Amino acid sequence: MKNSILAISSLLIISNLISSCNNQPLQISSPDRTVEVLFTLEDGKPRYMVTKNGNTVIEFSAMGFDLRGQTDSLTRYRLISADRNTTDESWEQPWGEFRTIEDRHNELVVHLVSDGRNGILMDIRFRVFDDGVGFRYAFPEQRGLDSVVILDELTRFNFPDDHQVWWIPVHSENSYYESLYRKSQISGTDTINTPATFETRDGLYLAIHEADLTDFASMTLRKVHPTQYVSELVPWSNGVKVYAKVPFESPWRTIIIGEEPGDLVISTLMLNLNDPCKLDDVSWIEPSKYIGIWWGMHLEKYTWGQGPNHGATTKRVMRYIDFAGEHGLDGVLVEGWNRGWDGDWSEDGTKFSFTESYPDFDLEKITSYAAEKNVRLIGHHETGGAVANYENQMEDAFALYQQHGVNAVKTGYVNKYLDGSEWHDGQFGVRHYRKVVETAARYRIMIDNHEPVKGTGLQRTFPNLMTQEGGRGQEYDAWSADGGNPPSHTAVLPFTRMLAGPFDFTPGTFAFDYSVVEGTRVNTTLAKQLALYVIIFSPQQMASDLPENYEGNPAFEFIKQVPCTWSDTKVLNAVIGEYVTMARKDWNSNAWYIGSITNEEPRTLVLDLSFLEGGLYYKAEIYADGEGADYLTNPGPVKITSRVVHASMHMNLELAAGGGAAIRLVPLPRQSK
Ligand code: NOJ
Repeated sequence: MKNSILAISSLLIISNLISSCNNQPLQISSPDRTVEVLFTLEDGKPRYMVTKNGNTVIEFSAMGFDLRGQTDSLTRYRLISADRNTTDESWEQPWGEFRTIEDRHNELVVHLVSDGRNGILMDIRFRVFDDGVGFRYAFPEQRGLDSVVILDELTRFNFPDDHQVWWIPVHSENSYYESLYRKSQISGTDTINTPATFETRDGLYLAIHEADLTDFASMTLRKVHPTQYVSELVPWSNGVKVYAKVPFESPWRTIIIGEEPGDLVISTLMLNLNDPCKLDDVSWIEPSKYIGIWWGMHLEKYTWGQGPNHGATTKRVMRYIDFAGEHGLDGVLVEGWNRGWDGDWSEDGTKFSFTESYPDFDLEKITSYAAEKNVRLIGHHETGGAVANYENQMEDAFALYQQHGVNAVKTGYVNKYLDGSEWHDGQFGVRHYRKVVETAARYRIMIDNHEPVKGTGLQRTFPNLMTQEGGRGQEYDAWSADGGNPPSHTAVLPFTRMLAGPFDFTPGTFAFDYSVVEGTRVNTTLAKQLALYVIIFSPQQMASDLPENYEGNPAFEFIKQVPCTWSDTKVLNAVIGEYVTMARKDWNSNAWYIGSITNEEPRTLVLDLSFLEGGLYYKAEIYADGEGADYLTNPGPVKITSRVVHASMHMNLELAAGGGAAIRLVPLPRQSK
């Protein structure tokens, strides 16, 4: 009886909703009521709108798809029913920028059917969080529809104004997001990648991106009006966007909404919109700091292929293992160990073998030696974009590594296309990258993926996906013809690229006196290099310079100490592209670390330490720009000092041009000061 009353009352609610939607929008708010989404059918066309504190963030904008055989411009939908749910829970990460993540959202699911004889069922699921909105499309199981071919997505993002946006282009400079961010108005853009970050005239910070990109094409944003973008899915080589078997769900389209730049950084919306961890046992997944036979190749001191300067020799790897062991670093990445590097590998990767070593690289001897020193070899699979060649060898390659105790592999896909014709970020690439992560998990191997598809939170589901490139990393400071990354680059990354997840940026330059390309080198001070370990999150974090450049430098102590997984993260101050200061709490202790960086302008920043635990004193070890430091003329000087601080104090940081500061704050026993 009770059940049937409930059923009748919910039916009433639903039919009220339906009649209201066919005329009036359906509304859903965030738990704190500041973010609101409206959904409506305008002449049978689905439309959504987003507001923050009553102000329009996204004006009513189109939704849906053009499917082969069913062009949406001819399609009208009717609302069948709508469901609402509320979630308020938290979950724990095995590693990350936060140990615990709160998932508090309200959900609205609208069940639609298209008009006409073969009415197609399509659901749209909205989730509204305090930090923004996600929505995704679902095609539920239905009679007469086994599969769909998506020709276009129609989702629009109609902004009320011609906002400022930080963006990178799509495919024109390279296929894997390795561009410097530009800042312009929306009207000055064309087609841009996500995450794209916006600043509105009324002081909001927005980021458009996606979450849970699984067996679909990536979304890019094509400008269709001076204030509007449409989702432009990355196509297959034949022009189709997505092949899907019904039932399926699209990735989430996400809009993070913040009142300060730092709100974007601490948003957990993307992770909340991915599936929970699918691995039963994650005890083998270990964040780590590593060195590598790597920078030497980029500096043209060593070669990947065979020859007099081959980098990956047994002797050299053993020296690197000794160095890692002595300094408490966990891994040594070795590139150029396997057959296939000779010739033009980046044009044709089909010659790569992932199981055969070069004769001067003894895998057995190296991995046994590493085990004695409590260090692991980090494996390397550069594919040159030859996916079929890699997939044919992948099981054997991971099995070989597993047999030798190698539990992390860096993958690479240097080529304009995968297998000669497909984009890295189309459905083909998305499928391949996921297959690598899932296969690696079966062999208990962690992945660091270079030239990837952008991150959309897959690390929640498969936490062996540790880190990715997918951004312009520090390697550009070795050989890029444009002078390397400007000092502002790293002050933009936390608010753009980093919203897509961990970045294997490879900080750690201590020696600035190399010259591969005249005028190109790391455009920071040494202290800023240290600060980047706090600013740029990567649970596999590299100390990228040659070991000989670290020997004897007291600033190396910071790299040895700094963790690469954090139980908490705060942004203490930021102006995108100018400066940023972050505080992060060590995963395994009560120590805090601060990183502060500036662009080419020197500046003094005042830090409010009230995030520290009240009643405790902390020893602050400060690595600051030394006397005369300047990224252009004198990057080296670092002043290392220490003092005692507590939560009610402020600290002044003097940052040099292109400079930074790194601080380790360790709580003192309660009685001591
Ligand atoms: C590009 C990667 O980003 C870099 O780290 C690697 O050394 C080369 N490809 C070779 O695999």
